[in-house]
Amino acid sequence: MIHQLNKKISILNTYLSEIRNVKIQNDRLRFRENLERISFIMGYEISKHLQYQEETITTPLGTSNCYLLQQQPVIASILRAALPMHSGLLDVFDRAENAFISAYRKQVGDDFTIKVEYVSRPPIQDKILILADPMLATASSMILAYQELTRHETPIHTHIASVLASEQGVENLTKELPMDKVTIWLADVDKELNQHYYIVPGLGDAGDLAFGPKL
Ligand code: PRP
Ligand code: URA
Repeated sequence: MIHQLNKKISILNTYLSEIRNVKIQNDRLRFRENLERISFIMGYEISKHLQYQEETITTPLGTSNCYLLQQQPVIASILRAALPMHSGLLDVFDRAENAFISAYRKQVGDDFTIKVEYVSRPPIQDKILILADPMLATASSMILAYQELTRHETPIHTHIASVLASEQGVENLTKELPMDKVTIWLADVDKELNQHYYIVPGLGDAGDLAFGPKL
């Protein structure tokens, strides 16, 4: 199942236009804030697909039947560009457990390899995993992160949360991940990747726009 949130017109489309817009995206604070706001909306949409249990809550004036989240998810973010997403998702699921995994592109000539060097995570066996990365270009980082996190344990279900994807990235992801146990959430999908595997029109380098250039 793939959800593309900009198909329905909402304020999310404005946030999306700002992270793409060359005249606005260089304001790092605004860029991070927009990633966070898109992720909050995405988290809210994901929340509609989780399990709830009915409980009677005592108010100062009586009782009320409320629906509470049955199980807290684990929010896992791919460093570093997903950090603002983490914050937005954690605002929705404020009691969630947290995981962080590093994945970065290492250029080798015209090509690149992805390096995963750091993983910090709680147990994820039989839990709901939300795995976030704003850019799904070739999807190599997302696939490697998923494989690393699920090497010894199996979540009940995984929600992949990404802001901008390429059609190629979505195709690669759906081929490599067990789609009966995975739901993909995207804000928008672009047609192309350029020769450096950047999404076109895309937005540029999400990590650099959020945190500045790296060596
Ligand atoms: C970016 C982005 C994704 C990855 C997407 O990270 O945040 O993790 O590229 O590309 P892929 O789908 O082809 O794997 P980058 O390697 O630039 O690291 P950064 O977040 O530290 O800037
Ligand atoms: N990483 C980015 O930040 N942007 C892209 O378009 C591709 C990978």
